[in-house]
This record gives sequence, C-alpha cells and structure tokens, in this order.
Amino acid sequence: MSVTPHDESFMAAAIRLSRRHLGRTATNPSVGCLIVRDGVVVGQAVTAVGGRPHAEPQALAEAGAAARGATAYVTLEPCSHHGKTPPCAEALIAYGVARVVISVTDPDPRVSGRGIAMLREAGIEVDAGVLEADGRRSLAGYLTRQTKNRPYVTLKLAVSANGMIGREGAGQVAITGPEARAEVQALRAETDAILVGIGTAISDDPLLTVRTPGLEAQSPIRIVLDPSLALPLTSKLVQTARDVPVIVVASEEISPSGSEEGLSPSALGANPQPISPLVGEMSGRTEGGATLPAAAMDLDSRRTALEAAGVEIVYCNPYHPEILLPALATRGISSLLVEGGAKTARLFLEAGLVDRIQLYQAPVVIGEGGIESPLDATDIPPGFAQTGTQMFGEDRLDEYERGL
Ligand SMILES: NC(=O)c1ccc[n+]([C@@H]2O[C@H](COP(=O)([O-])OP(=O)(O)OC[C@H]3O[C@@H](n4cnc5c(N)ncnc54)[C@H](OP(=O)(O)O)[C@@H]3O)[C@@H](O)[C@H]2O)c1
Repeated sequence: MSVTPHDESFMAAAIRLSRRHLGRTATNPSVGCLIVRDGVVVGQAVTAVGGRPHAEPQALAEAGAAARGATAYVTLEPCSHHGKTPPCAEALIAYGVARVVISVTDPDPRVSGRGIAMLREAGIEVDAGVLEADGRRSLAGYLTRQTKNRPYVTLKLAVSANGMIGREGAGQVAITGPEARAEVQALRAETDAILVGIGTAISDDPLLTVRTPGLEAQSPIRIVLDPSLALPLTSKLVQTARDVPVIVVASEEISPSGSEEGLSPSALGANPQPISPLVGEMSGRTEGGATLPAAAMDLDSRRTALEAAGVEIVYCNPYHPEILLPALATRGISSLLVEGGAKTARLFLEAGLVDRIQLYQAPVVIGEGGIESPLDATDIPPGFAQTGTQMFGEDRLDEYERGL
C-alpha cells in the first residue's frame, strides 16, 4: 500500500504524542505509537517516564483485540532485540497488526533494519520514512547521542534591539517578556541538561529550573563551566543542589587525584546517577561558612563545601566541549541547552557543536555597558537553515537548525 495523507496525519499525531515525554525517558527515546483500525484510533501511547515500558506494548494493550488487522503508527522503528523488555516487533506480530507505518529507522545497530525485517518476515506490511524530517526532529536527542556520541545541543540567546545580551555588572537584565520566558521554561522541561558559564552563574545567580506549575519535577540537570570552583556557596544553584542536581565542570588541573585524572569522558560517565553528594563534615568550614565568598576560601575548602552542599564536581577541561559532550552522553544526557553567557555561547559555536539556535529578539534597548551578543540574525553560521519564526508577546523567536 502506498502512503496516504491519512497516514501522514496519524503519524503527525504520533509525533505530537511522542513529544509529551521528551526529557523524561532517561536514555531511551520518547516514542509515540497509535493503533488505528478502520480510521479510528483504538490505542495510543508514549514511552513511559523512565524509558519503560516502550510505547508499542502500551498502545497494543489498550487496543486489545481491536489491534488485529489494524495499522500501527510508530515514530521510531520497533525494537527487535531482547533488552530489558521483550522486542516490540514481536508484540506487534503477536497482536496480529496488519500494517506498520514508521517515521524513522533506528540507528541503534541492535535494531537498525532488523525490526522492519522481523515484521515483514511475519507477513506484516511495512512503510518507513513517513514524515521523517519531523520524526527525526522529535528524536533529535536520541539520534544525536546514538550517531555522534554527544547530546543534541540547543543554544538559546535573548538579544536586545541593539544586539546586546546583558549589561556589565548589572546581573540579570530582563530582555524578553513573560510569554517568551514561559516558552523557555517549556524548552527546559523537555531537555536533559542545561549549561551556563561561570560568568553567568556569578553575575545572574540563576536558578535554571522549571517553575511552570505542574512541570516543576522536570527541571534539567544544571551544569556550570567553572574551572577553578568559583561558584559561590550562597548562589541559588548551590543552595538548591539537593533538590535539582548541579554539576560543576572544573579544570582537571585542580583534580584532587592529580592532573591526568578526570580528562577522559569515562570520568564523567563513571556514575550514571546525576549526583553523588558527599555526606559528612565540611572541613575548613566555620559556622556560617556558606556565606563566605568562594574566592576567600582555599581550593580544598571550596571543593568540600560544594560537595557537602550536594554539588557534583567533575574534572574535565571545561573549555573543550568536544571532550565534555561525549562525557555527558556517556552518562545518558541526550539533550543539552546552552543558555550563555556570551563567551560560553561563542565557545560552543566556534567548536561547531551547536545543532539548533533559538534566538529571541526583544524590543528592549540596552545602553551603556551592554554585552554584545555573539550572534544575531544576520550572522547565523553557515550550515544552519531557518526552521521557524514565532512571536511571544513583543519578542520574536527565530529558530535555526543544522541537519541531523
Ligand atoms: N541574554 C541572554 O540570553 C543571556 C544568557 C545568559 C547570560 N547572559 C549574560 O551574559 C553575561 C555573562 O557572559 P560572559 O561571557 O561574561 O560569561 P559566561 O559565558 O557565562 O562565562 C564566561 C566565563 O568563563 C571564562 N572563560 C575562560 N575561557 C573561556 C572559554 N574558552 N570559553 C568560555 N568561557 C571562558 C571567562 O573568563 P574570562 O572573563 O577571563 O575570559 C568568563 O569568566 C551576563 O551579563 C549575563 O547576564 C545573557
């Protein structure tokens, strides 16, 4: 059977459904599945929070006997291997589905093409590549980690009408309005980790969490590039590190176990848990020590105090994203949001390690002491194509992407 406009609209619905659990399925992709019988949806599901069960068995269970002779729409090729769950291809066969429509073929070598072959061998008709560009976008984190061994990187910048992203010494400057800020909260909620430079962490004292009612539990892991452990103990990031994980990426030169250790990605990946707080005495910290400026304490005391507050310190050259990103992928981070500042944005752009740019342009003008944006709409790097423009109140969001 050839692919029809009906197939495309059911696949579009499956892709929309898959986005619901973005950032919440651990190392598994968030997949959407619809079971359709005689033009009616009889079962639908998205990969469960945590990554299991997969979408297909849940949708099939909902459809029950109605799955026999039905068409299944799946955003990613059904798995064919016995992992922690039985193969989804086997479940589709067992329920008697007549046709399977797939958006994206799985790059995982344990699955690639085999799920499709298994279905065809069982006499099921298979059409793949339906709405593939949209499907790939919805699976960007998973596909990037599988094929490039690093997270999918989104750079978000808010730029004033005169091309500034902040003002020297002014802390957080409101550039965008509430509608744009709400949109950024939604983006954070579907992202595994968020990263800022130490300049931003100190000057803005950001929280970097999701505060949208109902989505608070979806805050990403917070990462600060902080070569010499300058993050203030009184910062909101440190103060909330027990609620939402904070990773400080410090220079391997200050690693307590020597300069060589910590360079390799496995140093970051050794502990797949987001955080492993040090419990115990905070040596070198007097009563009220948390209010001491970090710079006034010696390195070991800062290290101990940060860890005692629940911050995880990893030693991996913070200014080599080509080393840092695979290390983050090793610990299961598939999507990363870089939120600045200027130097950090430039670092990722110059390394060619940005996949998507979200540029908010606001009517606000920042005068004296303005910090120039590393980027504006006129100098988007080659290789990026504009994929959307939207207004949020008075602010305009332009989105640019590179091919996956
Ligand atoms: N509008 C927005 O979207 C947005 C978002 C976030 C932050 N901001 C603003 O950006 C400003 C902070 O920007 P920033 O550029 O100063 O800070 P940053 O990017 O957050 O942090 C940069 C810090 O890292 C150091 N560094 C050294 N080598 C580096 C390298 N190769 N790559 C990157 N960083 C390196 C810098 O040290 P040196 O100074 O010694 O070079 C600097 O202290 C704040 O005013 C904040 O409000 C705006």
